[in-house]
Amino acid sequence: MNILILGSGGREHALAWAVKQNPKCDRLIVAPGNAGIAQLAECADFDILDGAAVVDFCEDNAISFVIVGPEAPLAAGVADATRAAGFLTFGPSAAAARLEASKAFTKEICDACAAPTAAYARFTEAAPARDYIRRIGAPIVVKADGLAAGKGVIVAMTEGEALDAIDDMFGGAFGGAGAEVVIEEFMTGEEASFFVLTDGVNALPIGTAQDHKRVGDGDTGPNTGGMGAYSPAPVLTDAIADRAMREIVLPTIREMARRGTPYQGVLYAGLMIKDGQGRLVEYNARFGDPETQVLMMRLGAQALDLLLACAEGRLAEAKVNWADDHAITVVMAAKGYPGDYQKGSAIHGLHRLPEDSRHMCFHAGTAEKDGQIVANGGRVLNVTARGDTLADARNRAYAMIDHINWPEGFCRSDIGWRAL
Ligand code: AMP
Ligand code: GLY
Repeated sequence: MNILILGSGGREHALAWAVKQNPKCDRLIVAPGNAGIAQLAECADFDILDGAAVVDFCEDNAISFVIVGPEAPLAAGVADATRAAGFLTFGPSAAAARLEASKAFTKEICDACAAPTAAYARFTEAAPARDYIRRIGAPIVVKADGLAAGKGVIVAMTEGEALDAIDDMFGGAFGGAGAEVVIEEFMTGEEASFFVLTDGVNALPIGTAQDHKRVGDGDTGPNTGGMGAYSPAPVLTDAIADRAMREIVLPTIREMARRGTPYQGVLYAGLMIKDGQGRLVEYNARFGDPETQVLMMRLGAQALDLLLACAEGRLAEAKVNWADDHAITVVMAAKGYPGDYQKGSAIHGLHRLPEDSRHMCFHAGTAEKDGQIVANGGRVLNVTARGDTLADARNRAYAMIDHINWPEGFCRSDIGWRAL
């Protein structure tokens, strides 16, 4: 079959790498892709936020399966457009993707199905929001309702920070995303990510992961999109995962179906774990980045069968073949990230890296210039390895990094430390 993946990051490189290994995949096209993806798939350039443009491309290229990577095309209704045009599609409708696109909507769903999550209140005006913060006190969490490229959440340790966040949000710092604000109870515990495929009725857990959000060793410094991840997440035990399925994920899936907006795709639940229970921090309507890199490293070619079963409504008969393994990905970023950084520096040594079922360097933000791979973003490479233990996987990943010669880049030296 001809398969189209939408997106351009390390997540899409990992999806492409897994899909390509499956003999069902004949032709693989990624739009827009990146320089690493171009080494294993065709890349195509058109507006992936424009449903009509995606449908035209599918018609012209006899596409039989569309996999939507990032949240923006989902929220823009691209999966609705491709499905309406008759193309088998992996990814939720815009109505179902509200589970990521609106934090207030997610809270409403949690209320409707009694899913454990932080207590909250929602506001469309600053004055009552400020009163609420003064009444509850810090620490407290202030969230822009809409999509804000991962920057719309302020975990305020003081009342002053929380009040400043209210001023920013209602002052337009996040555009339309901040027109409504959700204020939440500050939860403590350990965070982990839980990935579940659902066809709208049936659900299949496909793995757990933990990421490192802070830029510096020891989880210090500013927040980033993620500096590394590993799977499985030991803190998310089978018992906690079963309970999260019963209390959070399955009730959400039923509630979405009951409302006439069934959720089809991967439901990524961010959980705060404490005292043997997970509480929902947030939902994402897509795979995590860089968590997908470790999930795909572990799932390999069967990932395509699972995504197809999900899109075709056959999840009841699907199962995951788990190996007793561990995967880790270390993000290499351009110096300065998550602040200002330069693009265009040359990365040497990539040809020396092993590429097999235990080692893969996924590209997150690269381009090719005069036959040379250059940095083209903040997070640039995801050096990923699999091993029999997490320590084995970690050693393999850092051994790969030793071969990469990129003076303008950096990485954390302690990915996985919490679990090691
Ligand atoms: P989100 O975009 O909702 O995932 O929030 C980003 C990060 O903020 C999460 O990964 C948590 O680390 C933190 N966070 C969000 N909500 C809460 C909360 N209610 N309590 C504590 N930390 C939170
Ligand atoms: N790594 C966090 C995310 O994909 O949202």
